[in-house]
Amino acid sequence: MNHTLITHSILRWAVLVLGVWAVLSALFAVLSKREYKSSDNKINLFFMISCDIQLLIGLILYFTGMWFDKVKSGMGAVMKDPAERFFAVEHALMMIIAWLLVHVGRSMVKRADTDAQKHKRTLIYFGIALVIILAMIPWPFRQPGIARELFPTF
Ligand code: HEM
Repeated sequence: MNHTLITHSILRWAVLVLGVWAVLSALFAVLSKREYKSSDNKINLFFMISCDIQLLIGLILYFTGMWFDKVKSGMGAVMKDPAERFFAVEHALMMIIAWLLVHVGRSMVKRADTDAQKHKRTLIYFGIALVIILAMIPWPFRQPGIARELFPTF
């Protein structure tokens, strides 16, 4: 396992912890109708930064590894193999969509007029992004070829 892949594997936990934290605190804030504090802004910012770094490392893995080569040598074959389709297409594409949602969400939160609207927008945009991220992680219970360990082995 190379260093980039090890970093990508470990950083998933930072993305998940920050994402769950941001979404749950937005949920409780909506329910309790509390104000939008600077700590809310901070956790949202940290979640976005973790997604930015993860995207960057993912792109490095994608273009320096075998996945982009496979795409170049024929999309037909890639789409027929579930593991190749997962990493070369589904994982990359859906994670980019999740990353976009986090960015659009943050600018929508900035533009919201009221605190209640800020919390609701955080909940919706980050919530959907988090569901996509959770669904697209190659968890150990996925089928062979896709499944990866929870923690990298050195
Ligand atoms: C929040 C976003 C993301 C999360 C949480 C995430 C998580 C993961 C995890 C857990 C793995 C398995 C690592 C292992 O083998 O232990 C993985 C593999 C991979 N990811 Fe991501 N990823 C994200 C975004 C991306 C993006 C945007 C791309 C590319 C554009 C990408 C490309 C890849 C590739 C190519 C692999 C397989 C590397 C290999 O085994 O050769 N990831 N990702």
